[in-house]
Formats: sequence, structure tokens, C-alpha cells
Amino acid sequence: MLITKRGERIVYLRFNLNHLIMKKLIFIGVSFLFTLNSCTPTEHDSSQEVNVENEVGEADLTEQLPDGFQLLQSTCFSCHNPNPASESVAAPNLAALKSVYFKNFPDEANFVDAMSAFLSNPSADKAILPGAVNQYGLMPQMSLQANQSRATALYLYANAVENEEWYTQVFPKEEARVLANRADLSYVDRGFEYAMATKSILGKNLKEKINAEGTLAAVQFCNINASHYTDSMSAVYNAEIKRVSDKPRNSRNQANTAELKIINDFKTQLANGEIITPQTIEEEDLVYGYYPIETNDMCLKCHGPIETMDNETHLKITELYPSDKATGYATNQLRGIWVVKMMK
Ligand code: HEC
Ligand code: HEC
Repeated sequence: MLITKRGERIVYLRFNLNHLIMKKLIFIGVSFLFTLNSCTPTEHDSSQEVNVENEVGEADLTEQLPDGFQLLQSTCFSCHNPNPASESVAAPNLAALKSVYFKNFPDEANFVDAMSAFLSNPSADKAILPGAVNQYGLMPQMSLQANQSRATALYLYANAVENEEWYTQVFPKEEARVLANRADLSYVDRGFEYAMATKSILGKNLKEKINAEGTLAAVQFCNINASHYTDSMSAVYNAEIKRVSDKPRNSRNQANTAELKIINDFKTQLANGEIITPQTIEEEDLVYGYYPIETNDMCLKCHGPIETMDNETHLKITELYPSDKATGYATNQLRGIWVVKMMK
């Protein structure tokens, strides 16, 4: 049983990486063609997009809403399998999310509000999927901006993702469309996509490990694999992707002076009750993108106050990281930031 789960996980990860490497190759080609207008906004011509824009038109959100499918692809599909016929070890599949929300909130505005409320701060009391939190453990906080949450929720509402035909017919077209448009993403959105793709693969594998073997085994998994994942995603995207913190567990992840300044800015925004705004810093040939990493319940098993942590887990952590600073967190705090270094 365990072996099968592991086998599946490795195959899935490989699939993901191969898939991303392929995309990367096409992406290089596409970006070459588009370098001249790489900062201009995209004009979409897909029927899906038109559909979505019509739906939002009335609420007058058309202008601000980013591409829902693109966000789902970079941020959600690694855990929520888009194939309605497939189950995942990490989380319910996409069809299950849509069906339960649609049943509870048949009206578009309520559907989008309810799902966005969960996404803005995943917590057990907001979750409506029966048994999902128990079965899979709580979803990690993905730190989407409000308009990004709305765009993903709206995409799910406006598209029949629960039907097999959507997966076999619309999904491949959407992937091709997003790929063709990727070179038009702004640096801040591009960096976000890279960071979120890394985060969701890391999160998926962490979740599978906790679900299959428990928190203690997962600590060892993070210890061995966390930097391996960030490094391999860096290779896939030809960008440098790392996680840093002002209170690191692994001293390799200590934030430098510039990064500490961003961390402080983000903390101030959080303290003021604002949604954290990602930042970019441009140098001659480089752009750095910075994105928040926030805690929710799921993280506290390993980053919470020591007295609330499982004893064995805490012992293992201090054994692996004698100078660990990454405990004592509560939910909705800034655990660190993603730093994405991109070539111009
Ligand atoms: C690291 C894995 C992971 C990623 C990435 C992820 N999710 Fe989840 N998600 C879960 C798990 C596990 C659950 C079930 C437990 C729960 O409800 O928190 C869940 C549940 C949900 C639910 C149902 C909550 C409820 O009411 O019960 C929604 C909606 C959802 N996810 C949307 C998204 C969207 C949209 C994205 C991308 C922006 C995303 N998820 C990314 C793991 C993930
Ligand atoms: C099973 C235990 C476990 C869980 C659960 C866990 N982490 Fe960690 N985390 C670790 C370990 C171990 C490391 C050190 C990894 C390394 O050596 O690079 C780490 C490192 C990190 C880092 C890199 C900076 C540093 O401190 O070295 C960040 C950021 C982070 N975790 C955020 C989170 C967030 C956010 C969550 C919840 C969504 C979470 N973690 C859940 C064990 C865990």
C-alpha cells in the first residue's frame, strides 16, 4: 500500500517536472518571439475567457481579474487533480470542489464569495467538503491576492470542470492558450507563477507524506527534500527560486539585508490588516520577485509553539536543526518569503 503511494508520488512528480520542462522549452521559444512586447497586457481571444468576462461584466471586475485557468494551473492542479476520473492522495479532485460548492451555492456571487473566503484563509470552520479536512488535513495557505482568489473561483463556476468532456476537450486547449500567453505576463506575475508552482509541488508532497506516514516522517522528508525541490524547480524555470526567513529553521534559508527589509514591509501590511502585496526590485539584467509565505493550522505541527508540538516531532527537529528558530508561530503570520530571481 505504502509502496504504491510512494510509486505514484514519484511518477506524478516526474510527470509534473517533465511536463514543466517541456513547457519551459516551448516557453523559451515563445518568450524569444515576444521579448519586444513582454510587458504589454495580454489580449485573450479564447471563448472560455469571453465566457468568464461576460459573467463578471456586471460586477465590473473585468479589468482587474487575472486569468483563472493560469492561476489554477500554476497553483492548484498539483494537489487538486483536474481529471474528474482520478483521485489524488493529497487532496480532493477539482470536480469534487466544484460540485460541493455548486450544490451549496448555486448562485454565482455566493459561490465566488464562499470559495474566495476559504482561499483567503483556509480553516476547518470555513471548509464545507464533508470529511475532507480529516481525510487530507487542512489545505495550506496559498497567499493569493483577493482578485486572484475570485478569478479561480469564477473559473470553476463558469466552466464545467466536473465533466469528463471538459477535461478531455477544453483542458488541453486552455493549457495551450496559457502557454502561448505566458510570455506576456508581467515580471511580478511570472515570479508568482514560478513561486506558486514550486510551493504547490512542495506542499503536495509534504501533504502526501504526512497523510501516508505521519508528521515525524514528514520532518525528515522536508529535511532531505525541501531544497532539492526548490533547486529542481529553479532548473525548470531557469530562474532562482528560494524560500528565506527572518527566523529560519535551516540556516541556509536566512534572509539577507534586502530580504529582511521586504519581510518587515510584509509584516507591517499584515499587522495593518492588509493583504500583502508582492514586490519586485529591478536591476540592470535582473528582476527579483518577493512573495509572502503565511502560516495556517497545517504549519503549526512543525512551526507552532513548542509546548503544542508532538514531542517526538520536536525532538527530531532539534536533532536535525540544533539552531532552529522556526517555532512559536501562530496562524496567519509571516513565516518567510519566496524570492524569485529572473533574468530580464
Ligand atoms: C498543497 C496542496 C494544495 C494546494 C496547492 C491547493 N489545495 Fe485546495 N485543498 C487541499 C486540501 C488537502 C483540501 C482538503 C482539506 C481542506 O478543505 O482544507 C483542499 C480543499 C480545497 C477547497 C475546499 C474547501 C472546503 O470548503 O472544504 C477548495 C475550494 C480549494 N481547496 C481550492 C483550491 C484552489 C483554488 C487552489 C489553488 C489556488 C488550491 N486549492 C490549492 C490542498 C491543496
Ligand atoms: C512536517 C513538518 C513541517 C510542516 C508541517 C511544515 N514545515 Fe516548514 N519546514 C520544515 C522543515 C524540516 C524545514 C527545513 C527545511 C530545510 O532544511 O530546508 C522547514 C522550512 C520551512 C521554510 C524555509 C525557511 C526555514 O525556516 O528554513 C519555510 C518558509 C516554511 N518551512 C514554511 C512552512 C509553512 C508556511 C508551512 C505550512 C503551510 C510549513 N512550513 C509546514 C518542516 C515543516
